[in-house]
Amino acid sequence: MKKGLIVLAIVLAVTLVLSGMLFAQAKKGPAADGKSVWDFIQKAKYQSWKMWPGTEAQYKGPEPHGAFLTSYVNQIAFDSIKAKKGKFADGAMIVQDNFDKNKKLKHVDVMYKVKGYNPKGGDWFWAQFKASGKVDQEGKIDECIKCHEAQKSNDYVYTSKMK
Ligand code: HEC
Repeated sequence: MKKGLIVLAIVLAVTLVLSGMLFAQAKKGPAADGKSVWDFIQKAKYQSWKMWPGTEAQYKGPEPHGAFLTSYVNQIAFDSIKAKKGKFADGAMIVQDNFDKNKKLKHVDVMYKVKGYNPKGGDWFWAQFKASGKVDQEGKIDECIKCHEAQKSNDYVYTSKMK
């Protein structure tokens, strides 16, 4: 009987710890993989997020991104840009809609800051999706990093100064 209670207490404690960990994870954002990130931004309705401070919908973008761009940021990223501390906080997410010259959505590019994901590369997870949501590229994408690396001292972003 007593043994049974102890076992029950242990099972309960383990369940509590595990669900606490899951909860913490859910609050932080999705796992660093393309499909999870796409599902997350759809559920979070990213097109209702704030735009990158100082930018508007469909501004003219440079190569190799779309001819027109809309850059959305989650609240963590927004606060990081405003705080001018030079870096984004963990969980920051930038979602950029890339349009062609006819303002048709071509692809969606994401930068997502995940603690410990890639310390050499600013801990950014990179992804590019087709407008349909199909994952084109994801992870530590060389092509993205090589170009954004020029902005390493600005936490790999171009759109505005982080300090
Ligand atoms: C040849 C250089 C180059 C490559 C390659 C490149 N980017 Fe960019 N990226 C830029 C520039 C320049 C901007 C600034 C455009 C703007 O928003 O005005 C930018 C902006 C962004 C932004 C908005 C945040 C910021 O840096 O200002 C995201 C998100 C982004 N790129 C993701 C990606 C992803 C994902 C890839 C790879 C699939 C990629 N980029 C490849 C040059 C590049």
